[in-house]
Amino acid sequence: HPILRSDYRPPAWLVPAVHLEVELDPAATRVRARLSVEPQGGTPGAPLRLDGAPGMVPERIAVDGRPLGAEEWRIEGEQLVIPLDQGAHIVDTEVVIAPEGNTQLMGLYASGGLLCTQCEAEGFRRITFFPDRPDVLSRYTVRMVADRARYPVLLANGDQTGTGDMTDGRHWAEWHDPFPKPCYLFAMVAGDLKANRDRFVTASGRSVELGIWVREADLPRTAHAMAALKASMAWDERVYGREYDLSIFNIVAVADFNFGAMENKGLNIFNSRYILADPETATDADYDAVAGVVAHEYFHNWSGNRVTCRDWFQLSLKEGFTVFRDQEFSADQGSRAVKRIEDVRVLRAAQFPEDAGPLAHPIRPDSYLEISNFYTATIYNKGAEVIRMLHTMLGAEGFRRGSDRYFDENDGTAATCEDFLRAMETANGVDLGGFRRWYGQAGTPRVRALLSHDAASGTARLSLAQIVPPTPGQPDKLPMPIPLRLALFGAESGRTLVPERVHILSEAEDSILFPAIGERPVLSINRGFSAPVVIESDRSAEDLAFLSAHDDDPFARFEAMQQLMVDTLVALIEGRPADEAAVIEAVRTTLADEALDAAFVGEAVLLPTEAFLGDQLAQVDPVAIRRAREGLRQRLGRTLEAQWRAAYAATAANGFALTPVAKGRRRLRTVALGYIAASGAADAAALALAQFEAADNMTDRYGALGVLGSMVAPERERALEGFYERYRADALVLDKWFTVQALSTREDTAEQVARLARHPDFTLANPNRLRALVGAFAANQHAFHAADGSGYRFVADMILAADPINAQTAARLVPPLGRWRRFEPMRAALMRAELERIVATPGLSRDVFEQASKSLG
Ligand code: ARG
Ligand code: ZN
Repeated sequence: HPILRSDYRPPAWLVPAVHLEVELDPAATRVRARLSVEPQGGTPGAPLRLDGAPGMVPERIAVDGRPLGAEEWRIEGEQLVIPLDQGAHIVDTEVVIAPEGNTQLMGLYASGGLLCTQCEAEGFRRITFFPDRPDVLSRYTVRMVADRARYPVLLANGDQTGTGDMTDGRHWAEWHDPFPKPCYLFAMVAGDLKANRDRFVTASGRSVELGIWVREADLPRTAHAMAALKASMAWDERVYGREYDLSIFNIVAVADFNFGAMENKGLNIFNSRYILADPETATDADYDAVAGVVAHEYFHNWSGNRVTCRDWFQLSLKEGFTVFRDQEFSADQGSRAVKRIEDVRVLRAAQFPEDAGPLAHPIRPDSYLEISNFYTATIYNKGAEVIRMLHTMLGAEGFRRGSDRYFDENDGTAATCEDFLRAMETANGVDLGGFRRWYGQAGTPRVRALLSHDAASGTARLSLAQIVPPTPGQPDKLPMPIPLRLALFGAESGRTLVPERVHILSEAEDSILFPAIGERPVLSINRGFSAPVVIESDRSAEDLAFLSAHDDDPFARFEAMQQLMVDTLVALIEGRPADEAAVIEAVRTTLADEALDAAFVGEAVLLPTEAFLGDQLAQVDPVAIRRAREGLRQRLGRTLEAQWRAAYAATAANGFALTPVAKGRRRLRTVALGYIAASGAADAAALALAQFEAADNMTDRYGALGVLGSMVAPERERALEGFYERYRADALVLDKWFTVQALSTREDTAEQVARLARHPDFTLANPNRLRALVGAFAANQHAFHAADGSGYRFVADMILAADPINAQTAARLVPPLGRWRRFEPMRAALMRAELERIVATPGLSRDVFEQASKSLG
């Protein structure tokens, strides 16, 4: 039965205080919970309903100190139901749970000798009976008891209020969190951990003890995360006026984790891949991801924790806003233009297909079966774009007035997206009116932008029209306010004819008249990607090449180059005449432009991915796409071989540094290596192996391995073996070894991946490893879409094998199969058949069932 947004009712009972006593043991952990409950007006006489997990039974229940008889409570579904008189009560329950058997990694579970928790969205109910919904806020006191030798460190939310030894080899620690919070922010960790400790003094003078807790051997890899944490704390004070509010901030890294990280109050828990980094094992991209996720979780302390969500339909209230905050933080730390390019790439690779497929949903959904399936690119990344549009429309100062008001008005409460919008409106004295449609309508708007010039009158007219396409359950859409940054340039003079302005396209159609346009103008639109839309324009290859060389917005330069490449490749795929020379010349110009930094060049000269090209076509034929793209890549490699070699030589390694300049050079170096390999040059494999062997950092080493991975050459085998031997004990690096093989464009990739799935280092139990092999394979357009359907069968087999172990992670592998409607009929039928096989499997999780059945439509 789907949960509906329209069914929201406030809770009948509140729980102002919780006292937990947890006797930790991997096989049998005893949890005693004491809840102070009180009725909230609304449903007088309603019994207390506490969520639990399948099969969970209370060993003891007492109300106000009196043990209840069996007839005084009941289990309904997975809920414990206790009829209570109106008025405040103390409710005690006791359960025993088994963290070592918890393979779902929700609730309390074991990971590499640690015990840790994950409660968002609905994990707390696997720890104890509780109203597991985000609008029940409580003050928590937690007493943890555990074997001292095995679990010397005991952490929970808030401040430590006491510790002590017991006579039986166990010890205890008590923690108290003074801030009321929903149970999804509860956390607890026990284990043999060591801390990288530091300190941060807030603007108002509060001294905060910082700790990043890891296995002792990993301590040297925590410096970057610590630096990012301190930078985030300072940034949130400077940009949003938000200070940290406890005297302790702890982070713990764990090896088994369903997603990136979790913002538990005062005790963030991270997938170790987003904490651990050193030059030997982490790429530059990994470093950036560490900083971005550390910042994201830290920023949640205000956007998520101090102000939380009323219900899970409001998830984008905290996630979209927090992603926007972390994107801006990262933009301020490095190259803003390159960061924007990366973020738009992610949006187009993950969110646009979601918006165009069977799982499309608005950033504030209307219904769900399993909330875990809604931690999507739409909620996170499109949600961030919606917040960014508000920022664009209100300006930085107006946006800040609105966010101040939002935090002030909603501090300590569970809020809604509407509360956020209202704060933005009242703080700025504006009516956002139709902008609310962005929260309710799914689908990526298409904006048609046609510029015409009348030389006689010296005027230009820009005609704009928007269409929001139909999505499942939403056949008809209304137009939405779309803020478009635009400018006009002179085709002959290269001058700015109309400087950048923001135009809000609110209606279905609109036009703008520009006077005093004496020469043919070229349109630059959606600059900086001001709106998450698809622009359809009739700009010629010549105009796009002009913009790619002369636009004064770096993102728009990148975008013009991408559009030029897309137009050319789509023409090639469809067998129409294509202006390949324009692409080659534009790339040549970009490579030669000394005013550009290497990081930007490295992004701008890359061809759009096969997946993105598929998204531009009415029907996807992966073979035709690959042939066209590889052909152009080869000709770019050959024609500009001298330029690639020059770029390669100019970016040669000269000692490792993590500066933006050094990172940009490494990026361009590997991109150039890729084009040298594409050219078919005889020495390419040797060159790549030399880079691989000489590298003093993972970026260069893995960059070379990525190029070698698709080659048929003895150098490839030598590098893969060397990499395995060197890193076999390091799980995070071994993930890269699996991924590079799963992404290979070699003909035998499917067989190799099938073999890797039987490799002793492969396991379905670790989400990182599963994604490293199967997630990467499903993104490999060539191997996954093998004409005989073997790629689809493999992924479906892995989903079914993983489902009983970890349903959330299994469900995340379904969407690639869900794109079947976009493919040519033969492949579409094969993909569909695998989805049908999945749905027909008995005992399927709700997670996989929802994704697979919705994908069938
Ligand atoms: N709130 C976490 C974050 O964005 C992610 C939690 C994901 N939960 C889930 N069930 N998928 O930082
Ligand atoms: Zn988040």
